[in-house]
Amino acid sequence: MDANELKAIAQAMVANGKGILAADESFSTANKRFEKLGILQTEEMRRAYREMLFTAAGVGNFFSGVILFDETIRQSTQASVPFPQVLKQAGIIPGIKVDLGVKPLALTPRELITEGLDGLRDRLIEYYKLGARFAKWRAVISIGNDRTPSQRCIETNAHVLARYAALCQENGIVPIVEPEVLMDGYHTLERSFDVHQAVLKTVFQQLYRQGIALDQMILKPSMVVPGQQSPEQVSVEQVAHATVRCLLDCVPASVPGCAFLSGGQGDEQATDHLNAMNALYSGKLPWTLTFSYGRALQQAAMQTWMGRADQVAAAQRILYHRAESNSMAALGKYAGG
Ligand code: 13P
Repeated sequence: MDANELKAIAQAMVANGKGILAADESFSTANKRFEKLGILQTEEMRRAYREMLFTAAGVGNFFSGVILFDETIRQSTQASVPFPQVLKQAGIIPGIKVDLGVKPLALTPRELITEGLDGLRDRLIEYYKLGARFAKWRAVISIGNDRTPSQRCIETNAHVLARYAALCQENGIVPIVEPEVLMDGYHTLERSFDVHQAVLKTVFQQLYRQGIALDQMILKPSMVVPGQQSPEQVSVEQVAHATVRCLLDCVPASVPGCAFLSGGQGDEQATDHLNAMNALYSGKLPWTLTFSYGRALQQAAMQTWMGRADQVAAAQRILYHRAESNSMAALGKYAGG
């Protein structure tokens, strides 16, 4: 493991105006999204869809990296170019989702724990050979009544995230540490802030315990927003202030950047929130704030593609537009449209 190499990759992942495309949907998530739109749920359709995303001309100006799924990192274009190679040729770093999804947390079945540590070292060695230079692990925390999330759920997920991050760094791979606090629920902005703060503080305590080099990782946080079912209305600026205040309180300055998930926000909303944070705090933050969106980058493109070869170019134009808009937002210069 070369520390300088990991540092350089982490910095490149959050380089000015660049962010990450999360295209690492598991079989079931990818199929669910296809099913909703009436797209056939086959390996070939998933491959064709990813080929549409990865071959969109010019997106390398906006994407520093793309997160792949186990199936995807082994797939190729119709012209037999492996996807990791396609990305590298476009100046994009290939990454890989390495968690194996969530299961009920034992003895607290309404809460979740992410699985996938067993055998992870061997999988990382293989993914490195396939071209991956960073990885992603998503922990899921939901906000319910006063006792949810439990301290046990937060601590267990944080511990697992830190053990994953250690294995990544040992094997020359930059870990994206993703503790997602879900938007589902009736909670207020303030409660979201408190839960984010508790989660992020615990995550960094565990990263410290496991000896993680903080300058060789990327944080992928959720934004501090009220629950989706909450009647509370907040402005873009309120979300920006709450999110940045929380990150300033919890994220050490040595972390190169935070790349947000979109978590079910609308495309424009996710862009507006990121833009507001960067515009309001320009020059005042120790780390970069950028995007690592899945749905907010892909949704509109998928709806245009619909599994049709004659729609590839139109879908790629939409992806390009979302990528460019978020790139501007990562600079705090998005003017809408
Ligand atoms: P969304 O932006 O759709 O939340 O996905 C990002 C991601 O990678 C979740 O793990």
